[in-house]
Amino acid sequence: VETLADAAEQSRRLVGVAAGYGLVTNDEQFVDIVTGEFNYMTPENSGKWGPLQPAPGVWNFDTHDQMVEFAGQSELAYKGHALVWHSQAPGFVTDDLSADELQSLIDDHITTVMSRYSGEIRAYDVVNEAMGDDAEYRDSVLYRTLGADFIANAFRTAHSVDRRAVLFYNDYNIAGLNAKSDAVYEMVKGLVHNRVPIDGVGFQMHLTAATAPSYDELVANLSRFANLGLRVNISELDVRVADLPWDYQTNIAIQRQVYHRVVSACMAVRRCEAVTTWGVSDKNSWINYTFGEDAALAWDDDNQRKPAYYGMLDGF
Ligand code: XIL
Repeated sequence: VETLADAAEQSRRLVGVAAGYGLVTNDEQFVDIVTGEFNYMTPENSGKWGPLQPAPGVWNFDTHDQMVEFAGQSELAYKGHALVWHSQAPGFVTDDLSADELQSLIDDHITTVMSRYSGEIRAYDVVNEAMGDDAEYRDSVLYRTLGADFIANAFRTAHSVDRRAVLFYNDYNIAGLNAKSDAVYEMVKGLVHNRVPIDGVGFQMHLTAATAPSYDELVANLSRFANLGLRVNISELDVRVADLPWDYQTNIAIQRQVYHRVVSACMAVRRCEAVTTWGVSDKNSWINYTFGEDAALAWDDDNQRKPAYYGMLDGF
């Protein structure tokens, strides 16, 4: 096989990438890699609530329209990200809103976005990061105002707007078996039992090489969600190495093993439909400005394939 997309297609999987608008419009090497290697994409920022609807009823569709169009022209399936999330939400989403006001703003946002792109967007992260790191519902404006019901309601609204879209719950620090993944598991199990129209769970997997779960643990965790009848996907993969004793060549060899392990774990679970990596080149990774300078992706600062790339390729 020649590319990640070839390998993934042979294994009947999607291989995705987070695409930043600035890179799609200004970086030819990025565009070549995205169109050459992937068959799935997620907008890195342009599909978020704040960027799309900065003020109530004020819509900024141009950037996101271009992203959807780019994906269509490049034959990349598209996952919308993210409809309901406390972070990168518009300034008007505050604790001053009543429950009714917030609920209708959420419903209106979901309805307007999903009807615009119906037939063009295959899947959405409907709710992102609703669970806290303490394994309790996250104390966000959404939860404070609406309680946990905002989650079920978001899926119901989304399903009523576009019955064909695949609807995901998405979160981080749930790759392995731990208190937070247990809590998310109980939450989505409750949704399934209440016939809430959720189709799957996205495991972000912003990992560090030193702490990544074992293959067996990844498979066990993905499998328990899949056994609820849900699809699963690895939605935002990157693997930091800066916490290892610093030797670049050694670290990127270890990183290759982690990328390979994650893709292999997805391959071991029939309902695991996609692995998406959160960017292309290390130099443009969100990791550098969020956790400190690192080399977490599968292409280096010069857009050259790293061992991690071959780890993914071998994994599919
Ligand atoms: C990140 C983007 O990569 C950054 O450019 C932005 O500054 C912040 O958001 N979880 C998510 C993604 O669901 O939307 C986040 O993306 C990374 C963490």
